[in-house]
Amino acid sequence: MRVLVTGGAGFIGSHIVDALVAAGHDVAIVDNLWEHGGGKTENLNPKARFYQLDIRDAALADVFASFKPDVVSHHAAQPSVAFSTKDPSYDADVNVKGTINVLRCGAAAGTRKVIYASSSATYGTPERVPIDEDHPQRPESPYGITKMVGEHYLQYYASAGGPAFTALRYGNVYGPRQDPSGEAGVIAIFTNRILAAEPIRIDWDGEQQKDYVYVGDVARANLLALDGADGAVLNIGDGVGTSVNELHRQIATVVGRDVKVEHAPKRPGDVRLCVFAIGRAKAALGWEPQVPLDEGLVRTIDSFRIV
Ligand SMILES: NC(=O)c1ccc[n+]([C@@H]2O[C@H](COP(=O)([O-])OP(=O)(O)OC[C@H]3O[C@@H](n4cnc5c(N)ncnc54)[C@H](O)[C@@H]3O)[C@@H](O)[C@H]2O)c1
Repeated sequence: MRVLVTGGAGFIGSHIVDALVAAGHDVAIVDNLWEHGGGKTENLNPKARFYQLDIRDAALADVFASFKPDVVSHHAAQPSVAFSTKDPSYDADVNVKGTINVLRCGAAAGTRKVIYASSSATYGTPERVPIDEDHPQRPESPYGITKMVGEHYLQYYASAGGPAFTALRYGNVYGPRQDPSGEAGVIAIFTNRILAAEPIRIDWDGEQQKDYVYVGDVARANLLALDGADGAVLNIGDGVGTSVNELHRQIATVVGRDVKVEHAPKRPGDVRLCVFAIGRAKAALGWEPQVPLDEGLVRTIDSFRIV
């Protein structure tokens, strides 16, 4: 299959590219290596074609016309809640207009399907846990709003004769290659700082719980969605809530050292509790997480030690 991965130089996208190449697919990447994102040239798989291009650029149509993707795995985005609260207009430009451009180009080039990276941030503060896919979406950050709007455009284009879709709502994804220099990705940030014997910052009281899912499991969900679960919206998480304080404890234990903790107030847009119900992804794709948090943390910490 010919698969175009937008954001394929980034953290999650590059793992998807590697899994697609390993499975024998013909893969191309569109990524503009945005200066505030996690995209890096060293993440690029040499067996994939690379187009350094902004997804908002009119020239995206030429990439679609020449590569003719059967499926697009759409991961290019402004991916940070914190950045979105500082510049909501930029966030909307990339996450909404960029997504529309991907869908328009896919419709024009006869792309069969778009797999979309959505987010737990679209739910906002849950009224019940675990959160299933029918839970109301009341996003509390500009990022959560734009990711939710992207889902609506998928449905619009599919109903208007464009590509079919699967929207994957990820929990907090972690693993090797996650950028530790940004404001998102608490596991990468804590790992990097504890390995360097530098203090960590814990916002709020650290008891906020999120659903952490290993990046290899996310890549596998994308491969399964290549030809399954058309029209479905699926939670992709591990179904377990873990607090920031618990992450700190576990990472310090694996690294074998603790560091000073600085405390800071709640960040705008952060939510208290997010734990996913993941039964629908199992029913639709046969997908279940295979890497539990303790094992995923060891793999992540080992990869950060090598770098
Ligand atoms: N990391 C998570 O926990 C998480 C959770 C839910 C959803 N997501 C979504 O998954 C996707 C990948 O996130 P990530 O954590 O790997 O982030 P990342 O920053 O590592 O990857 C995003 C990639 O998109 C590229 N990009 C950004 N703007 C672009 C543009 N205008 N044109 C072309 N390329 C552009 C960046 O250069 C980067 O390589 C995003 O859509 C994000 O919203 C991530």
